Amino acid sequence: MNIALLGSGGREHSLCQKIYDSKLSKNIICIPGNAGTSKIAKNIDIDFLNFNKLLKVIKFHKINLVIVGPEEPLVKGVVDFLIKNKIKVFGPNKYAAKLEGSKAFMKSLCKKNKIPTAEFKICRNKKDVNNFLRKNIFPLVVKADGLAAGKGVTICKNKKQVLKVSNEIFKGKFKSSKKLVLEEFLDGEEASYFLLVDKNNFKFFGSAQDHKKVGEKDTGPNTGGMGAYSPAKIITKDMEKKIIKKIVYPTLRVLKQKKKNYTGFLYVGLMIKDSEPYLIEYNVRMGDPECQVILPRLNTDLLRIISFAVKNKLNSVNIKWKKDKCMTIVLCSKGYPGKYKKNVKIKNLARIKLKNSSFIFHAGTKYTDEDILSNGGRVLNITSVGKTFEKIRINIIKIIKKLNWKDGFFRRDIGWRVIQNK
Ligand code: AMP
Ligand code: GLY
Repeated sequence: MNIALLGSGGREHSLCQKIYDSKLSKNIICIPGNAGTSKIAKNIDIDFLNFNKLLKVIKFHKINLVIVGPEEPLVKGVVDFLIKNKIKVFGPNKYAAKLEGSKAFMKSLCKKNKIPTAEFKICRNKKDVNNFLRKNIFPLVVKADGLAAGKGVTICKNKKQVLKVSNEIFKGKFKSSKKLVLEEFLDGEEASYFLLVDKNNFKFFGSAQDHKKVGEKDTGPNTGGMGAYSPAKIITKDMEKKIIKKIVYPTLRVLKQKKKNYTGFLYVGLMIKDSEPYLIEYNVRMGDPECQVILPRLNTDLLRIISFAVKNKLNSVNIKWKKDKCMTIVLCSKGYPGKYKKNVKIKNLARIKLKNSSFIFHAGTKYTDEDILSNGGRVLNITSVGKTFEKIRINIIKIIKKLNWKDGFFRRDIGWRVIQNK
């Protein structure tokens, strides 16, 4: 099969690696890809949101299946567009992608179907905000309704902050929508739970815990994710049953009733509080960096699984996992998530020799002639598989030390919840 993979992050490099490893893959194109994917696939630097151009490239390269990494093309309807043009694609349609594309849509769906989630109010103006403030205690969470590249959520300590952040959203700070969701703060432990879904079935596709704050001990501003590990200890068999019964079933049932069946990866973002799961968010794609710790534990051919899913025959495939654990630490450009330099040489990268159980997934990187340059805030995902999280982390930090990239930084405490000697 010829595959087109959309996206350019660490998630896409890890997906690309699994597709490359598959017996079923022939040619792979990444649109646009990064320096890592360019070693195992052909990068094509076009804007994947230009659907007509995308279609031309897909036809020219005789692509048999398109796999979508990030949310934006899904929310903008790339799946509907490609299907209309008779191209096979793995991902949810535009309606189902609203689970991520509109917080108001997701929260209303939860309310109508009694799915456990934080108390909330969809606000269109200051009056709506003030009404909610009267009845609730701080902290409160303000969320922009539409896609906001991970910057749409603010945890507010007081009324002044809520009003400031809300006002910015009403004025159109995020182009995707001027609505917002104001919600109760849930104090618990976060975890990410993943599924593969087709028209008739769904299958467990791993669990993980991300570390969103830039600083050690979970301090400082939020980022796209500074590191992750899999599996997430807090998602026990018992917890999984609750997640499926209370959250996943009712959601997929609603989409089915509307004849807008979900297909693709489904990321269930949870807060676990008093041993109960609450839905914080849905993402209609794999997580980044969660994907980078889930795929190395997968023992079944990814492309085979996805091919079954596209035919709505997920039930016929048995997904096997390694018993081993996996962790990734994200090496970032100094300054991230604020301002940082781009085009900085990562001198030692080509010299690093990795064992079979370790991987460096590229995120913000690019090639120029012989050099690999940084090209974003999150640059490399140093990933390792092993028996204990403690040993894995030691191993990853050794690799980062060898890399000795003076313009980068990372968190040394990834996995603190599951490593005793923090
Ligand atoms: P979201 O984009 O909805 O995932 O929100 C980003 C992050 O904000 C989440 O990963 C949580 O860490 C935090 N967050 C969002 N909603 C809540 C909530 N209701 N209570 C506590 N933390 C939250
Ligand atoms: N790791 C968070 C996300 O992918 O949204």
